[in-house]
Amino acid sequence: MERARITLFDTTLRDGEQSPGCSMNVQEKLRLAQQLDRLGVDVIEGGFPIASDGDFEAVQGISASVRRPVIAALARACFGDIDRAWQAVQRAERPRIHVFLATSDIHLKYKLRISREQCLEQAREAVRHAKALCTDIEFSPEDATRTDTAFLCQVVEAVIAAGATTVNIPDTVGYTMPEEYGQLIRTLGEKVAGIGKVVISTHCHNDLGLAVANSLAGVQAGARQVECTINGIGERAGNASMEEIVMAMRVRPDRYPYETGVASEQIYPSSQMLAEITRIPVQPNKAITGRNAFAHEAGIHQDGVLKNPLTYEIMTPQSVGVPDSRMVLGKHSGRHALLLRCEQLGHHFERRELDEMYRKFVVLADRIKKVQDSHLLELIQDVMAEGKRIPPAAAAIPFTRAAAAAVNGSFPGNALGASSIPVTFGDHHSEQEDYLWGV
Ligand code: KIV
Ligand code: ZN
Repeated sequence: MERARITLFDTTLRDGEQSPGCSMNVQEKLRLAQQLDRLGVDVIEGGFPIASDGDFEAVQGISASVRRPVIAALARACFGDIDRAWQAVQRAERPRIHVFLATSDIHLKYKLRISREQCLEQAREAVRHAKALCTDIEFSPEDATRTDTAFLCQVVEAVIAAGATTVNIPDTVGYTMPEEYGQLIRTLGEKVAGIGKVVISTHCHNDLGLAVANSLAGVQAGARQVECTINGIGERAGNASMEEIVMAMRVRPDRYPYETGVASEQIYPSSQMLAEITRIPVQPNKAITGRNAFAHEAGIHQDGVLKNPLTYEIMTPQSVGVPDSRMVLGKHSGRHALLLRCEQLGHHFERRELDEMYRKFVVLADRIKKVQDSHLLELIQDVMAEGKRIPPAAAAIPFTRAAAAAVNGSFPGNALGASSIPVTFGDHHSEQEDYLWGV
C-alpha cells in the first residue's frame, strides 16, 4: 500500500522547553538541534524569539548552522513578535514563521478581552504581515479544540486567504478525545475553502494521556503534519511524544500507512541527550525510550524472549537505537565497548578524550558493579567540562566513521601522536570477546 509522507514538526526546543525545569541555553539548544537534524525531523521549532535575547540567539544560531530542515520561530499575532521571529530565522535555508492567536471564547473573553470579529481581523492582519516577510507561514488557532467549530472554520479560511501555508489545530489543554479530534480535522477538510492548498497539522497536549492517540486520529482524518517533542516533554503533562508516533507508524503500517523521514536508530540517542541536557530523567516505563521499555524481568517473559524475541518484543531495541542490554559495562570492559556505548548515546570522542573518559570509567567501575547510561552521561559531562568542549556535530561525523572502521577493521591512529599506533580488531560478537579486544 502507498504510504503518505507525514511532516514531522519537532517543538522540543520551544513547547518542550516550556515544561518546568526544561529551559535550555543557547549552546544546549544548538547541540540538540544538530541531533534533531541527525534524527531526520522535517521542521525544528527553535524557540520564541520575542521571549528573550537567549531564545532569539538560539533560533538565529540554529538557522545559520542547521541547513537541512525547515527552521520555525514562534510569534504571537502582532507585528513586533513577527518581525523579531523573522529576524531570527531569515538566514535559514528554509525559514518559517509560526503565528498563533487564541480563538476559543474562553480565551477571547478572559485572556485577550477581544471579540470574535477582532480576533478574526487580528489573525488575518498578522498572517498578511508575516507573508510579506516569509513565504512559509504556519498559523495556529490556540485552544482550537474548545473553539466554536463554525468560528474556527471562519478563522482558518481567513488565514489561508491571507497566505498561511500550514494550519495547525492545537489541542492546547489536552481536552479532546481521538474520535472528536479526528472529526474536527475532517470537518475543516470538508468545510473550509482553500484547505486543499495547505497542510493541516496536529498539536496535541497530553493532559488526559491522549496526545499520541489524538495525533494519530488527526493523521487518519487527513492531517499531514504532526507536532511533537522528544520524550513527550512540553507544557504541563507534555506534548505528543515523537518516538511513540514514529514507532506506531513503523510497527503498525496496516493501521497507519504513513511514513516519516526519521532515522529511528537515532531515537534513543536523542532521548538521552535531552535527558542529559535538561537533567530530567526519562520515566523508566516510558514507551520506546524508558530504561524498562526492552527489559524483561519475569521468568516466563525471559524464557520467551530468549527462545524468540518476537514473543514479547514488538520492535527490536536496535531499531530505536537502544544499546544492546546484554553488553554490560563493568570493570572488565574496554575502551572499545566504552567508545561504542558513548556513540550510541550521541557522544563522539577523540582518542585523547576517550583515554581520559576511560580512566574515569575504570575508577567508577571499580566502585560499582554495573555502569549505567546515566553514570556514563555524568562522566561524559566531566570530561567535556575539563576540556571545555560542547561536542560539535561537525566534528562528530568523521569520528563516527572512524568508530565504524574500528568496529569493522583497523582502529585509526590520530594526529595527536600519543596513541597513534594502529590497533587492529577482528569481528567480535560476545561479551567475552569484547572484553578481550576492547582493553
Ligand atoms: O499548545 C498550543 O496551543 C501551542 C501553540 C502556540 C501552537 O503551543
Ligand atoms: Zn502547545
